[in-house]
Amino acid sequence: MGNKELFLKAMNDRYACKAFDPDRKIPKEDLEYILECGRLSPSSFGVEQWKFLVVQNQEMKDEIQKVSWNQKQVGTCSDLVIILARKDVRSTDPYVQKQLKRYGLPEDKYQKFLKLYADWVDGRDDEILELWSEKQAYIAAANMMTGAAFIGIDSCPIEGFDCEAVDKILGIDTTTFQTALILPFGYRADTPKEKKRLPLDEVVEYIV
Ligand SMILES: Cc1cc2nc3c(=O)[nH]c(=O)nc-3n(C[C@H](O)[C@H](O)[C@H](O)COP(=O)(O)O)c2cc1C
Repeated sequence: MGNKELFLKAMNDRYACKAFDPDRKIPKEDLEYILECGRLSPSSFGVEQWKFLVVQNQEMKDEIQKVSWNQKQVGTCSDLVIILARKDVRSTDPYVQKQLKRYGLPEDKYQKFLKLYADWVDGRDDEILELWSEKQAYIAAANMMTGAAFIGIDSCPIEGFDCEAVDKILGIDTTTFQTALILPFGYRADTPKEKKRLPLDEVVEYIV
């Protein structure tokens, strides 16, 4: 198979897995590869407004399952990745300044860049900024899921959870972070359903 076919096979193979084999654990190096797929993801202004928690503790997975519509993907997976979105994303926040300084721009160019960032971000409400960080976090999540599928590891994006309850179980510092998405990884113990997607000509429109 060529690269295109291999990649599309992974895209087709990935599905929202509803139950994992609780006895099969993902090898450390495969888990690290999946996390690397997240780490290398693009983010607006390169701020990387995310953090990935990996829950391996079974009691904690069970606790989180209870506040996630009792979806058994959560408790049966090998590794439960919690994608956190950062809230400290205003131009005045030290985290943002640290990220933007990494580019090594001379001071005047850095100040211009910071102003561009401030104009884009600072006027927005907290709620909008939280959603903005969540958007970036979802890109990382998508890359992790596709990367995992590419090596035969299953996943399921989970939005069906009580955010406050999950933050509490994990002891998240909610001044800085919030749980954006729950992402269990493991090996399937269910059978995927037939993929349902709109045809390409319904979702794509060319403007020539
Ligand atoms: C942001 C997001 C949240 C989702 N939340 C859940 C969820 O809580 N539980 C679940 O079983 N599937 C969840 N899904 C999976 C979708 O239902 C699934 O991706 C969609 O129906 C397409 O099926 P497929 O992924 O198997 O191809 C979610 C998907 C996305 C992208």
